[in-house]
Amino acid sequence: MLEKSTNVVWHEASLSKDARRKQNGHHSFVIWFTGLSGSGKSTVANAVATRLYENGVRNYVLDGDNIRHGLNKDLGFSEEDRKENIRRIGEVSKLFVDGGQVVLTAFISPFLLDRQVVRDLLKEDEFVEVFVKCPIEECEKRDPKGLYVKARQGIISDFTGISSPYEEPENPELVVETNLYSVEECVDQVIAYLKSRQFI
Ligand code: ADX
Repeated sequence: MLEKSTNVVWHEASLSKDARRKQNGHHSFVIWFTGLSGSGKSTVANAVATRLYENGVRNYVLDGDNIRHGLNKDLGFSEEDRKENIRRIGEVSKLFVDGGQVVLTAFISPFLLDRQVVRDLLKEDEFVEVFVKCPIEECEKRDPKGLYVKARQGIISDFTGISSPYEEPENPELVVETNLYSVEECVDQVIAYLKSRQFI
């Protein structure tokens, strides 16, 4: 994106990321949940967050629907707006990581390139992509917000999976299949992965 600000000079923070991590007693990184609307991203992300909290891991959830009520309320669902949505969340996530926290994001983030941009913002050990996999037929059956019905009726345009594409991750760190496993089982899978990499 074009930088509009000129004459701005980076000010080095007096506290380093490492110092903050040391104080928190754990690594800081992003767990990036991606998947269709209704696939269970927010549910799994919040359940993982609770498990981390119970284990003394400082964390915060950034959720698409919530962020679109505030920081990103000026954005819609065109390709350009989704790209900007994800770009901002990537930058915010990076700040959390710098602050020594674990950040869990629950955004459809349908485009491979946009997710890659976020991955590239962070270090290799700071980005864990979790594909929340669920067949669209099942998401549509769940339809927790009644949006698929409206998308089919043409009341909502550019709806992911119906009238707008979803590009599946090619090489995610994890795939959780919410149509095959319970929320708790998906959480166990994520926690086991984080432990295997000694992130927590
Ligand atoms: S993203 O594609 O830009 O990553 P984001 O995760 O922020 O999407 O927001 C998706 C949420 O917005 C969905 O869970 C749904 O509740 C709502 N929504 C409203 N309109 C649309 C649409 N056209 N496509 C997808 N989701 C939509």
